[in-house]
Amino acid sequence: MATLCPGCFEEEVSTGGEPCPTCGWSGEQDRPPLALPVQTELKGRYQAGRVLGEPGGFGVTYLGYDRLQNEKVAIKEYFPREVAGRDTDGRSVVPHSGRGDEEFAYGKEQFLGEAQTLAQFDHANIVSVRDFFEANGTAYLVMDYYEGKPLEAYLEEQPDGCMEPGAATEVMLRILDGLKEMHREGYLHRDIKPENVYLTKEGRPILIDFGAARQAVGERSQSLSVVMTPGYAPYEQYRRNGDQGPYTDVYGAGATLYRMMTGEKPLPATDRVVEDTLQSPREVNPEVPEGLSRAVMGALAVGNKERLATAERLQVRLQGREEESGGTFQKESGQRDTGQRDTGQQKSRREGGQSSEKTPSESDGKSNVGGSSFRVRKRDDGRTEFSESKSGRLNNKSENVNIKNTRPNLAGKNARSNSQKEFPVKKVIKYSSILVIIVIILNWYLS
Ligand SMILES: Nc1ncnc2c1ncn2[C@@H]1O[C@H](COP(=O)(O)OP(=O)(O)O)[C@@H](O)[C@H]1O
Ligand SMILES: [Mg+2]
Repeated sequence: MATLCPGCFEEEVSTGGEPCPTCGWSGEQDRPPLALPVQTELKGRYQAGRVLGEPGGFGVTYLGYDRLQNEKVAIKEYFPREVAGRDTDGRSVVPHSGRGDEEFAYGKEQFLGEAQTLAQFDHANIVSVRDFFEANGTAYLVMDYYEGKPLEAYLEEQPDGCMEPGAATEVMLRILDGLKEMHREGYLHRDIKPENVYLTKEGRPILIDFGAARQAVGERSQSLSVVMTPGYAPYEQYRRNGDQGPYTDVYGAGATLYRMMTGEKPLPATDRVVEDTLQSPREVNPEVPEGLSRAVMGALAVGNKERLATAERLQVRLQGREEESGGTFQKESGQRDTGQRDTGQQKSRREGGQSSEKTPSESDGKSNVGGSSFRVRKRDDGRTEFSESKSGRLNNKSENVNIKNTRPNLAGKNARSNSQKEFPVKKVIKYSSILVIIVIILNWYLS
């Protein structure tokens, strides 16, 4: 009998075990022992295929197939290994006896709640959730499947494990676009790191792996070590009931950017709190422009009060639109100070869900952000090329940007355009003062 290959869902393969001509799957691939059997049917419509990535402590992600839509999907199964296991039927997930029951149920509730929230987001840089349901005693979340690879895998393939700073910044600006949207709705990601940033084949960065269930189970099961990733997690995440907010994700974003530009992840926040010996990105990689390096360090401040407070703030700094000065932040004319401790959520509530601090990408039109895709390519001469095609509803034209040309603008572009804007005002004041003085002198002379 022929069936679609569970390794790629591209080819019909015989159940006899012949390797798939497209992906080489032969049905004998190493399969994590806890995973669902291949071809398991879910909700009468989805088929579970191979396991994607290494199963984390809180779930297993499968390549899947939606038989109704005839499309590949990614299916995430809620499976917190500390508190539950697979039953002897090979399908059902059952909580361990004792406290496991309560923790499992609580985490499942959070998982489904998060799925419901994610399903409402329609953002190019946030994973698109299309369905969620309960089955096999646990819960599942069905996402669009993207061809591509996690940023971590991409970085590991690069010489020195890092990217050209301009390209790295572009990736992070897109991720911050997605993050801002989430924060506006009051959600935190809590585990931003290169493994959870997915790069599609077209070069679109997408934030995956949201952590409500992870956080919920971790908090209840005393196993805090599993709810954050050393190097990418800020100090407040190590503390039970630590004060978390948008700045918690800002730290993860800063750490991810640090890794992208230097090939190294930052020292764990717990080490830094004792003695902070973290080198700036520019100290590790002199190719990182000074302003950019300082912006990343602003996101990586150990104390959350010293840290850039919101994803928006980090974006602004990465774009060189706001510079640090004596520990405070100078704002562009017309920008309102929302305060360092202000969360995106609080601000957005006050402003009726709208933020007044638009980033250039927003003011250029949302479709440009939502509809853009970009490619990060290593060129023969060793440089990284960034090209962006805008295919949004409002903007159909494509344009290529060579990172080599855009990079020098990163820190100075907007500062320059601001001073150009201010120049005529200064000129008018200068010449009108001279005119007034001449009039006074003339008046005095004639009288
Ligand atoms: N929507 C998706 N499309 C393609 N691959 C995905 C998708 N979601 C997850 N993956 C792959 O599955 C891996 C694990 O997913 P993730 O959600 O990060 O779970 P966890 O880290 O908890 O195992 C990712 O590293 C990625 O390779
Ligand atoms: Mg992950």
